[in-house]
Amino acid sequence: MKILIVNGPNLNLLGKREPEVYGDQTFDDYFADLQFKFKEVQLEYFQSNIEGELIGKIQEVGFSYDGIVLNAAAYTHTSVGIGDAVKAVETPVVEVHISNTHKREQFRHISYISPNAKGVILGFGLKSYELAIQSFLG
Ligand code: DQA
Repeated sequence: MKILIVNGPNLNLLGKREPEVYGDQTFDDYFADLQFKFKEVQLEYFQSNIEGELIGKIQEVGFSYDGIVLNAAAYTHTSVGIGDAVKAVETPVVEVHISNTHKREQFRHISYISPNAKGVILGFGLKSYELAIQSFLG
């Protein structure tokens, strides 16, 4: 079972970015926890602040991996291109968000990913990623 976690813009700052919203753990640290927890899964992690790189990565793994866990961050609310990439690939994509975007500003209530995602998990802090991985396991 091969699963790729894809994080979008500013998520490289987890741990120091608005800790009251996103917590105080770095993603590298959390990723180590995930690898420990899901030893049977081949987990990979990719982060970019650049829209085209995110699309490229989704295309690259989207016909061979078993699952993609995607937090497109701010691009969630703006990117027709990432939404189309999610639709184009065969690998199922679970959309995740750390915060409950529906409790926040109106512009965060729109997602270009959701219509093409297998499912959406949001609002559980970093645990959202763990729940998404679990959703791929029988
Ligand atoms: C986010 C929510 C987005 O609205 C925001 O732009 C992010 C992070 C989340 O995980 O809660 O960067 O995707």
